[in-house]
Amino acid sequence: MQRQSSSFTIRHANSRDVGHVSDILTESFYRSSDRKVNFLQRCFTDWFYPLLRYGIMLDLSSRVSEKAPCYACLIATHPANKSQAIASLEICMRYVPIKPHHKFWLGHEMQQHPYIFNLAVHPQWRRRGVAKQLLQAAEKTVQQWGFSRLHMHVLEDNQPARNLYERMGYRLYSQEGSLTYWLMGSPRRFLLQKKLEEN
Ligand SMILES: CC(C)(COP(=O)(O)OP(=O)(O)OC[C@H]1O[C@@H](n2cnc3c(N)ncnc32)[C@H](O)[C@@H]1OP(=O)(O)O)[C@@H](O)C(=O)NCCC(=O)NCCS
Repeated sequence: MQRQSSSFTIRHANSRDVGHVSDILTESFYRSSDRKVNFLQRCFTDWFYPLLRYGIMLDLSSRVSEKAPCYACLIATHPANKSQAIASLEICMRYVPIKPHHKFWLGHEMQQHPYIFNLAVHPQWRRRGVAKQLLQAAEKTVQQWGFSRLHMHVLEDNQPARNLYERMGYRLYSQEGSLTYWLMGSPRRFLLQKKLEEN
């Protein structure tokens, strides 16, 4: 698969992309300036950065090389350097509750659905529509797999991501971590869902 839209190309990642994608993930989830981190957290991250990156790289490398059914790692590249990923996301199958949170009395039965994780855009390439294009490509991919719903988690305090998902039509499906939110003020985790329309 190769989709060219605007100036970015979206394609499936291969083993040569794992290093760049690991850099983006480590930078985005552990060192991004968007996140509110204190001095100690920043020192800890800087100190352990190579280790964090190495762990991410090992995990990603095994997922990419395993080629499991209904798994995909999509990356975006810019024409100036088609071999260097500037953003990525992964899709896998994951158990999610059959009923949304407001119908909790109907039980907590789970079912496997396509699930997006590790969406990250390199800080230098943000606010140019890259994440939007990656999500559109992910939606096409799961439709090709024969599914019509897509899920993902987002943290309550991740406003950029929440804005993006809201704009792309993802809606709150269920929420987790309410107890730690009330006891310690840690952000809740929202499970979002989008029902994909047939083309
Ligand atoms: C969240 C993230 C993926 C967005 O990537 P992006 O390529 O900058 O997003 P896009 O340019 O496609 O933005 C599309 C829309 O999302 C919303 N949005 C994106 N970033 C935003 C920000 N920083 N503040 C407010 N809204 C934002 C806007 O509505 C935007 O449309 P607009 O630019 O026309 O206003 C990126 O900021 C990122 O990698 N963050 C760190 C990792 C992360 O939090 N991943 C999500 C985990 S759930």
